[in-house]
Amino acid sequence: MKAVIVTESGGPEVLQLQDVPDPQAQHGEVRVKVMATAVNRADLIQRKGNYPAPPGTVANILGLEFAGVVIDVGEGVFGMKPGDRVFGLVPGGSYAEFVVVNHRTLARIPDNLTFVEAAAVPEAFVTAYDAMVSQGNLKSGEWVLIHAVGSGVGTAAVQICRALGARCIGTSRTKDKVDRAMELGLHRGIVMEKGDFAAEVKTIVGAQGVNLVLELIGGNYVAEDLECIADQGRIILVGLLAGAKVDMNLGAILRKRVLLKGTTLRARPLEEKIVAGQLLANNIVPLLESGQLKPIIDKTFPLADAAKAHEYVEKNDSFGKVVLTLE
Ligand SMILES: NC(=O)c1ccc[n+]([C@@H]2O[C@H](COP(=O)([O-])OP(=O)(O)OC[C@H]3O[C@@H](n4cnc5c(N)ncnc54)[C@H](OP(=O)(O)O)[C@@H]3O)[C@@H](O)[C@H]2O)c1
Repeated sequence: MKAVIVTESGGPEVLQLQDVPDPQAQHGEVRVKVMATAVNRADLIQRKGNYPAPPGTVANILGLEFAGVVIDVGEGVFGMKPGDRVFGLVPGGSYAEFVVVNHRTLARIPDNLTFVEAAAVPEAFVTAYDAMVSQGNLKSGEWVLIHAVGSGVGTAAVQICRALGARCIGTSRTKDKVDRAMELGLHRGIVMEKGDFAAEVKTIVGAQGVNLVLELIGGNYVAEDLECIADQGRIILVGLLAGAKVDMNLGAILRKRVLLKGTTLRARPLEEKIVAGQLLANNIVPLLESGQLKPIIDKTFPLADAAKAHEYVEKNDSFGKVVLTLE
């Protein structure tokens, strides 16, 4: 099969389309012809050599999500057959014509989504839903602060908040992204002109602060989250785009009884990946079918142009997802 290989650690130019052996479905697995996949920040960091593939995962083929068609099924697979349209998460390897996955991690693509649209869903929507609802215990009527609101995960989070009856404030360094997020249901937006947000958040929600922060940026943002989080608020740390180091006031965590929780999807063991697949099938697909959630796609590139897609994402211009197509 054709796959985009990371030939060595480095810039986008190290990504090259090459022939590699086809993966074969083992017991409990299905082989899926990938019709579309998408770029994630983790791919960029892995390409640079700073985020090695989890143990047991193909090391030199990137790609954490896919939408495609079941081609063949291994022994012990039930409820899936060749021709089924499926999408889901993998720990790597989806920048390729085929992926092999455990059938219990898969969800069926709703009829109202194309493959390209479906490929924009798993990482963004499962990450946002899992962080805010499964781990953050988000309830209707609560206030959520979503950083990088124009990101793939951020645009998914806004829509999930709306669908669940939560109210959300979003931050971005780019005014246009805040404006576009308002069209998705963001209640209030903050353009990060001076790099601070806590005072403005409190002006919007009152001195008590927000109940939950979807922390996609990390670094100094976390210290400021503590200034505008409510008593017993939850900060779910999902990304570290602004870095992993911060000078912060632990006293605020004690005093406000804040939960600060980190999370990552990629390295979860199979049993937890199955739970993530069920979350996609049972919680997200119905909202996609009803139109309450929709994939936000900024741009598509053919898989062969994965290097150009990485360059584009690194420029921070995208709103929503960047999808790689194989159709
Ligand atoms: N833990 C997990 O399992 C998991 C899964 C998926 C994603 N993530 C993380 O979630 C975050 C969002 O991912 P994504 O793929 O949705 O991102 P994305 O679509 O590529 O968007 C990221 C946006 O973040 C903003 N940004 C970049 N660097 C920044 C910085 N230093 N300070 C402030 N803002 C910055 C930029 O928008 P502006 O115009 O606003 O600057 C950029 O467009 C990333 O940190 C990613 O690693 C984690």
